[in-house]
Amino acid sequence: MKLFSIFSLFLILSGVTEANFAWDCTKSIGTCQNYRYAAKCGRMGRRRFTYDSNAKARPGCLTASGCSRNPCNSKNLKFFKFGNLCDEFPFASVQEGGRNAHLRCVNINENRSEGGQLRGFYRTIKNGDKFGITVKNYRRAQDLKGTEEFDPDEEDEFVLDEALETDDGEMHLVIADDPDGPISVGHEIWSESVNGTVRVIREIFE
Ligand SMILES: *[C@@H]1O[C@H](CO)[C@@H](O)[C@H](O)[C@H]1NC(C)=O
Ligand SMILES: *[C@@H]1O[C@H](CO)[C@@H](O)[C@H](O)[C@H]1NC(C)=O
Repeated sequence: MKLFSIFSLFLILSGVTEANFAWDCTKSIGTCQNYRYAAKCGRMGRRRFTYDSNAKARPGCLTASGCSRNPCNSKNLKFFKFGNLCDEFPFASVQEGGRNAHLRCVNINENRSEGGQLRGFYRTIKNGDKFGITVKNYRRAQDLKGTEEFDPDEEDEFVLDEALETDDGEMHLVIADDPDGPISVGHEIWSESVNGTVRVIREIFE
């Protein structure tokens, strides 16, 4: 038996599951769309992210990513129409954020929705903890046009190879997890809609 499967077994037997965050795109379509382009353009893979609880580091992340230059405040830029707030993915609150982050102009309410969800989740983990991410209610992000040069062939960008169903009836796509222990049946995912975790009950392979 490989090491990682012994480890997974240990996690299941001990009732400990790794931290995962369900990102609900309903009120943060633009920021979900930003993830989608980051994944497409940045070749990010599916690795987990590392929580950086040091809020003082965030302005540094925002500077490194370019967001602190307020690129979304210029009405002359065509991206202004998406909103005047600069959003970055990976989030400024993870160690992987900063210089290589993908930026998108979004509406401030979307930033607030995403930020509120993350704050709730971060209360359940510690600085330096790694976590996986799933997205749910992402269909509208899929339909959103990203740029003037939107390519209709990209419509299916959000159809990844695997979807998960959780015990609250929601469908998720996995966008970040541990390649050695992918999010699967029995694993828990923190979800703002229940202010707690929901459990994966089914894996659906395309
Ligand atoms: C966007 O959300 C983040 C996370 O909640 C927050 O730190 C930041 O101040 C927000 N930006 C604005 C301009 O509200
Ligand atoms: C969510 O749960 C936490 C801890 O159990 C609690 O402190 C917080 O107030 C809850 N939030 C909401 C919106 O109910």
